[in-house]
Amino acid sequence: MRIGVVIGSGNGMDGATGTLVQSLLDEVATRTEIEVAVVHTDDLDLGPSCPGCLNCMTAGEDACPRAAAAAGATALMDAADLMVFATPVHSFHVSASMKRFVDHYAYLIHRPRHHGRPAILISTAAGAGHDAALGYLGEAIRRWGFHTVGRLGVNGPGLAKPGYRSKVDDALRSLAADAVDAVASGAEPTPTTKDLIGFRVARLLVQSSREDGPVDEQYWRERGWFEADWFTDVRVPALPNRLAALVEGRIRRAIEQGTAKPYRG
Ligand SMILES: Cc1cc2nc3c(=O)[nH]c(=O)nc-3n(C[C@H](O)[C@H](O)[C@H](O)COP(=O)(O)O)c2cc1C
Repeated sequence: MRIGVVIGSGNGMDGATGTLVQSLLDEVATRTEIEVAVVHTDDLDLGPSCPGCLNCMTAGEDACPRAAAAAGATALMDAADLMVFATPVHSFHVSASMKRFVDHYAYLIHRPRHHGRPAILISTAAGAGHDAALGYLGEAIRRWGFHTVGRLGVNGPGLAKPGYRSKVDDALRSLAADAVDAVASGAEPTPTTKDLIGFRVARLLVQSSREDGPVDEQYWRERGWFEADWFTDVRVPALPNRLAALVEGRIRRAIEQGTAKPYRG
């Protein structure tokens, strides 16, 4: 099993997050042969913030000024049977360099290519913030196509207590088993209502940015996605799909008629 790890910790594989990831890899290795490649988001030289040129959307990802810096990470994600995305919780969110990593791949929201590929999400914290950090990470990678097969958020200081440690070890065993099963089955989960709305919103994005460049539109046309209900030929459930179509219609009308309201919370 080829496992790709993206770790967003300044302490690399030696910190609390890296140690937890290593424990997971060791668990998986007791079940199957693994080949692991690790990318540290801190080492990627992606710059302080995405420059926002939108070249990746309009001219293709190779036109990004940071494309070369991200090439290794791109290759790692393309090759992995299983991805592990891991971050410390920083101020109730992912670390800044993990956020920067996610921003680099914003074009994958327009041109996703990882459907059917499982991922595991890991966070460590002193005590709180896993829900926001892992929730965000899960949302982001779902847009790229990955589906999350397991999540684990661990409070580092708690590991000194045998009771907590043993629950973490149980969770690691269960995650490892789920990961091995997911890769072995190769099964893509049935898309949820939220997924199906996401598909339709991505299509709206691509349709509304047609004049900006041909890249997104060509990608969608080549895959027949303008006429589809989902990115792959996995079974699309009827009722959620009808709901998604209704939501799409409302969003489309709101955009066309200018009736969309600014967000007020
Ligand atoms: C800048 C910064 C912000 C942090 N914010 C939080 C936080 O919001 N919640 C929390 O429980 N721990 C927080 N922590 C603690 C780390 O999440 C925790 O120590 C983590 O396990 C460190 O992982 P690492 O060794 O891989 O860097 C923060 C640490 C730093 C350095």
